[in-house]
Amino acid sequence: MKKYFVVFSIFGILSLIIACGTSKQTTKTADTKTAEKNPAIKEYALADIEAGKSLWAANCGKCHSLYAANAYTIAEWQDILPRMYKRSKLENKADAEKIDAYLYSNAKR
Ligand code: HEC
Repeated sequence: MKKYFVVFSIFGILSLIIACGTSKQTTKTADTKTAEKNPAIKEYALADIEAGKSLWAANCGKCHSLYAANAYTIAEWQDILPRMYKRSKLENKADAEKIDAYLYSNAKR
């Protein structure tokens, strides 16, 4: 009986270790999926990133001080930016996309 207990305990500990390892991997997969699902996360043209930086500097510091690109992750920016674009009245979608280009390319990783 004692032997079985030991075997089961080892098995239990091993499953825990494996479970933890797997859950880490799941997180990674989730990140990759977000990137795949979201067309916003892609390689941006350098010209767009540069233009985006100027637009960000011109539009995003009107109501509060400028929040640095690397203050947030891409996921956090995606959550914040739609609200801010509405506030900034950036009617021109192309301009908003350039700001995306700048902020996403320099976001916290
Ligand atoms: C018309 C005013 C206004 C403009 C323009 C504006 N913001 Fe904001 N921003 C706010 C207010 C007000 C808050 C406070 C939080 C809230 O109410 O959402 C805020 C909060 C934030 C935050 C803090 C995070 C959060 O979730 O609250 C970030 C980052 C931010 N703004 C980025 C930007 C960027 C980038 C732009 C340019 C595209 C921008 N803002 C333009 C008004 C503005």
